[in-house]
Amino acid sequence: MGIKIKIAAVAISLLVIGGCSTNNSQPAEEKDHDIGEMDHSTMSDMMEGHMSHDEVTSLNDSTGENELKIPSMLEREDENSIVYTVRAQKGKTEIFDGTETETYGYNGSFLGPMLRFEKGDKVKIRTINELEEATTFHWHGLEVAADVDGGPHDALKPGEEKVIEFEVTQEASTLWFHPHPKGKTAEQVYNGLAGLIYIEDENSKSLGLPTDYGKNDIPLIFQDRTFDDKKQLNYSAAKNEDGTIGDTLLINGTLNPKLTVNKEKVRLRLLNGSNARNYTFKLNTGDSFVQIATDGGYLNEPVNLKEVTLTPSERAEIVVDFSQLNTENDLALINEEGSILLPFEVSDQSGAISRIPGEMNDFSLTEEEMKLPVTKKVELFGMMDMVTINGKKFDPERIDLTQQQGVTEVWEIYNKPDMMGGMIHPFHIHGAQFKIISRDGEEPPENERGWKDSISIKPDERVKIAIQFKHKGVYMFHCHILEHEDNGMMGQVKVE
Ligand code: C2O
Ligand code: CU
Ligand code: CU
Repeated sequence: MGIKIKIAAVAISLLVIGGCSTNNSQPAEEKDHDIGEMDHSTMSDMMEGHMSHDEVTSLNDSTGENELKIPSMLEREDENSIVYTVRAQKGKTEIFDGTETETYGYNGSFLGPMLRFEKGDKVKIRTINELEEATTFHWHGLEVAADVDGGPHDALKPGEEKVIEFEVTQEASTLWFHPHPKGKTAEQVYNGLAGLIYIEDENSKSLGLPTDYGKNDIPLIFQDRTFDDKKQLNYSAAKNEDGTIGDTLLINGTLNPKLTVNKEKVRLRLLNGSNARNYTFKLNTGDSFVQIATDGGYLNEPVNLKEVTLTPSERAEIVVDFSQLNTENDLALINEEGSILLPFEVSDQSGAISRIPGEMNDFSLTEEEMKLPVTKKVELFGMMDMVTINGKKFDPERIDLTQQQGVTEVWEIYNKPDMMGGMIHPFHIHGAQFKIISRDGEEPPENERGWKDSISIKPDERVKIAIQFKHKGVYMFHCHILEHEDNGMMGQVKVE
């Protein structure tokens, strides 16, 4: 009985969205007959999709048999003008021993290299599309003019290339890049297109934090996948309109990874690069760690935590002090369900001396910003392929919001629940880093008092942010569940 009512509720809420009616105040039970209007397979697809989101497939434990791969750092081709070449290409990758999986990658067959910029750098990147389909090169979190941001308007056809230039004006942070073609983002990321950007500045170089790339400064890109019986990434088979979830975790493209570390402080730059899965990261011993950075920069002070949750596209930098942990027993990074994500092997070498300074940044939310009225409202609603922002689906020809360059405005983002309760939507805005003013009227948690470009918004939650754009142009804002983005849960803000 319970389930039947639930089914009716889904059918109705979907019909209501589909029919563009805003009157969904009638109780579900009275509209049972409406189900008949729905074609059965659509109906069960939707049910499965939503149910599987409520009860997400668990991740298999990592056996730890493969040492974690560390993305290579992309070399500059010319010291002065800082030229990089980034090619999107197709290839074959041995993810499973002895089997080749067809994958996409940047400058390689799978995932991409790390691009290391310094604040003040004038960067020139030659982007080349060697795929057999259109793609774009989007720099997630980077504060650049909209014409180099790589949104859906900037598609490169197969074989095309484009040189982009920008100056790095923001502070030290961990950003990333990925494709953004209209309707195809989810599949291209799923196939392997994603890479990291590190920004360093005077501050990051003077703090004394671990900075030995691949030794005690480790990027961790978390992506869950489903492999078919031929060990291929078959996106259309794995696809879920509400966000594609897999049972197999890859970290930096490594299956069954483990990380060998010295007895020292190790900085882990966590990136949720998954299409849809959320992760709550913890140590299996219950020990705490410190978070030092959010999406767009350092926190003012390190925050002690026992767990940190990241929704798709969010980042957190944490430091785990392996010299202080009892390493006799097995140590691992696990998720909320206890699945082993990354076992650690702690060598008896003592490693570098690094420290976590008490003060790292001067981030502040000013009185003025806190007093600003809400001038932009964004309402996230729906599920599956019926997702909308302010009741509309993405239209590349429509400007949804306009904002003046250099002027701070307060946006209020509301996640409107559906009759089944709804789901978390990770909300992202291009071209800027913003500040969280409040979550449901309350101050954000300590580890969110830093620059953000993506935030998790729970059903019925109302989040206020203060945002300013440094550059002009048309930027996207969207849900970072990639299937929701592709299904139109995206809008455009024009900065003039
Ligand atoms: Cu990660 Cu529209 O971006
Ligand atoms: Cu982005
Ligand atoms: Cu969403």
